[in-house]
Amino acid sequence: MKKLNWGMIGGGEGSQIGPAHRLGAQADGNFTLAAGALDVDAERGSAYAQSLGVAPDRAYADWQEMLAGEAARRDRVDLVTVATPNSTHFEITKAFLEAGFNVLCEKPMTLTVEEGEEIVRVARASGKICAVNYCYSAYPMVREMRQMVATGQLGKVRLIVTNFSHGHHGDATDADNPRVRWRYDPAMAGVSGQFADCGIHALHMASFIAGDDVSTLSADFASTIPSRVLEDDAMVNFRMAGGAVGRLWSSSVAIGRQHGFDIQVFGETGGLRWASEQPNQVYYTPVGGRTQIMEKGEAGLSDEAGRLSRVAIAHPEGFPLAVANIYVDLAAAIRGEARDSLPLAEDGLRSMAAVYAAVASAKEHGAWVDARPPMFR
Ligand SMILES: NC(=O)c1ccc[n+]([C@@H]2O[C@H](COP(=O)([O-])OP(=O)(O)OC[C@H]3O[C@@H](n4cnc5c(N)ncnc54)[C@H](O)[C@@H]3O)[C@@H](O)[C@H]2O)c1
Repeated sequence: MKKLNWGMIGGGEGSQIGPAHRLGAQADGNFTLAAGALDVDAERGSAYAQSLGVAPDRAYADWQEMLAGEAARRDRVDLVTVATPNSTHFEITKAFLEAGFNVLCEKPMTLTVEEGEEIVRVARASGKICAVNYCYSAYPMVREMRQMVATGQLGKVRLIVTNFSHGHHGDATDADNPRVRWRYDPAMAGVSGQFADCGIHALHMASFIAGDDVSTLSADFASTIPSRVLEDDAMVNFRMAGGAVGRLWSSSVAIGRQHGFDIQVFGETGGLRWASEQPNQVYYTPVGGRTQIMEKGEAGLSDEAGRLSRVAIAHPEGFPLAVANIYVDLAAAIRGEARDSLPLAEDGLRSMAAVYAAVASAKEHGAWVDARPPMFR
């Protein structure tokens, strides 16, 4: 099958998420890195793109030059990944969608609900794909959990408990480090710190596995390091449209927790437990029965979990290959196949509505508020 042309904005040398995208997009032979504006520093970005094999005339100085250059080409990129800092996502994503490109945007998709609604409108009008990189939803065993819920193996979901809590910003003596400080500064990060950064992954995961949307929530935010304006710890209770109860804790000062993302789903006839640090295993307990450890690659799993596994049972298949699974589904969708598990602009918008709802609730001492985007009410 002919490879698709892929372009990247941001994700330059030394960036956190850039390597996972490059490994992910190219893992299965679907995409070739054909163009890029990889760095806020034009020269550095162009040099790095060329070192990765991008032709000099497609190693652009900035995203505007890339948009003009690619739009004029017959072999224009089939997909653009936006992996720049949060405040630039809206402008870049909107411009590329309007010019007729498919986009994979990093989370959070936008900084405001209004911008999120605008991206949904533009994506729908363009007929192009606008995906959002909720990559944890693409681990094979997360897909397995989703299938188990969808096929009724847990009965009705009653309760979801999820955490995305690490301790990497817990050292008060490091709080002024520029790489840490901006995350708690409203001018750089928007209205929310930790919840918008990590909590929305957990909230998306809850919706993804349950196959349901968050309708209301109540939040308690804390800035446990006094110099911080935005929260470094958030506790969010939520309710889903179908009645499931949700509990979400997201923290960056939980010293000793490393990646710290886990989820438990409790239904009428069984419970599931999964953690990102052991992504190949799901713990499943049927009501009245023993706990079973389900392993990626074993017999009897769903086709969905099977098709997203590449290596044999018990071999670790980690984060970059979860990102790769997003690209597998994107390549299929670009080639015209239906992919209902791909996180889309609508999911990015729901996250932003939840962020604003949580901020409003926290200001009102945990009052319950509507968490749905206005355009979906
Ligand atoms: N999905 C995930 O699990 C996940 C994980 C980490 C980061 N992220 C998201 O990825 C994005 C980037 O985060 P990061 O940690 O890699 O940031 P980073 O600061 O490590 O890297 C950002 C990169 O973007 C480049 N850049 C900045 N402005 C640019 C511009 N205008 N044009 C082109 N390049 C530009 C920088 O030079 C740098 O190479 C953020 O939105 C973050 O929330 C997502």
